[in-house]
Amino acid sequence: MSNIVIVGAQWGDEGKGKIVDMFTEYADLIVRFQGGNNAGHTIVVDGEKTVLHLIPSGILHPNKKCIIGNGVVVDPEVLIEEIDALKKRGRFDDERLLISEDAHMIMPYHKKIDAAMESIRGTRKIGTTGRGIGPAYEDKTARTGLRFADLIDEKVFREKLKFALMEKNHILSSLFHQSGFEVHDIYEQYMQYAERLGRYVANTSIYINDEIKKGKKVMFEGAQGTLLDVDHGTYPYVTSSNTVAGGACCGAGVGPTHIDKVIGISKAYTTRVGEGPFPTELTDMTGDWLREKGQEFGATTGRPRRCGWFDAVVLRHAARVNGLSGMAITKLDILSGLSKIKICTGYRFEGKIYNEFPSNPRVLNGAEPLYEEMDGWVEDLSSVKDIDSLPYNAKKYLKRIEELSGVETTLVSVGMERDQTILIKNPFR
Ligand code: IMP
Repeated sequence: MSNIVIVGAQWGDEGKGKIVDMFTEYADLIVRFQGGNNAGHTIVVDGEKTVLHLIPSGILHPNKKCIIGNGVVVDPEVLIEEIDALKKRGRFDDERLLISEDAHMIMPYHKKIDAAMESIRGTRKIGTTGRGIGPAYEDKTARTGLRFADLIDEKVFREKLKFALMEKNHILSSLFHQSGFEVHDIYEQYMQYAERLGRYVANTSIYINDEIKKGKKVMFEGAQGTLLDVDHGTYPYVTSSNTVAGGACCGAGVGPTHIDKVIGISKAYTTRVGEGPFPTELTDMTGDWLREKGQEFGATTGRPRRCGWFDAVVLRHAARVNGLSGMAITKLDILSGLSKIKICTGYRFEGKIYNEFPSNPRVLNGAEPLYEEMDGWVEDLSSVKDIDSLPYNAKKYLKRIEELSGVETTLVSVGMERDQTILIKNPFR
């Protein structure tokens, strides 16, 4: 048995898509368990780039089953676009996708409320992706959300939509002075989605558990990253779901006794998109250099990512809250050419040293990173295939990351392509 959860160990964009795509070879089922189309997973195969927002990154391998779990919030329009784009390129067949009947849908009013909320937050804005993610999860928790089980029963859908719009139209007009929505318009639009997507809707918890019983291997694909988790991240500058490994159980309908390993993905440096604290952020030329060389622009919104040094405090936090059994370090190749590289080992605030990630926003905002400086390397790493062939200083850098986080490195990525990967230990074996 080998069921593995893949999670981001930083603020998202760690390169999970590539790692999931790579490990798909060893798995039978690939399951997304949280988030929505705020995620953008970029995969490059034979020079062809694919950006996936909702469909699990395993879709590019023929014969693998991809599942959108109950913990995901799905914008049906975006999902249909994604299916069509993959179909056009011969990368999709209908039998390979399932959507949980319990997954909630993003509705047009969620997107409008997301944008309106951000505009009234002023300096306290979160910098959301504007995809309606937060409002959709709010409705799920408030018990007013619409799920795929509702979509495929038009009577139930109409009733629930009517009820939801009573509230949403009131909020839009009274609070934001904006126009609302007509039941009829959304109903017609979503019935078309039902026609297209109905065939994929299933009880995916039963399906996944049955497959596990048969000895099939499951890979649970996280989106965003640990520091964006609604409980364990830099609250309130987080997304609205549990991005940590525990979320895989709730978001897929699988018990924790079925999870064997958790692999955290971390870049060899740090990035963040959107607002919120980021202690090792570099606002100087080195930050700009990392952004340009690492092509650090959001796959979903195109926003420039904030860049900074590697933060071992963040990784220690991620190791603990996820129970990481191993980690994948991505984009090591980007650091080639830096004469000195810094690693943050702790923070100082008002004379006190913090070795663990603090929750207090005042501490986080004022945290002065404590750095260790290491020598860099100049060699191009993009064609290195084994760990021993890495330059001495690159190996030393990886070793230090392992020591500081207490987690062993199972994989190092040195480029976008599948084969630009140094696999040290296969978690499926
Ligand atoms: P939301 O998920 O759109 O509500 O955005 C909340 C915060 O999470 C914002 O700071 C976003 O920039 C960030 N965020 C959401 N999804 C991703 C992602 O896939 N990668 C990186 N940041 C993300």
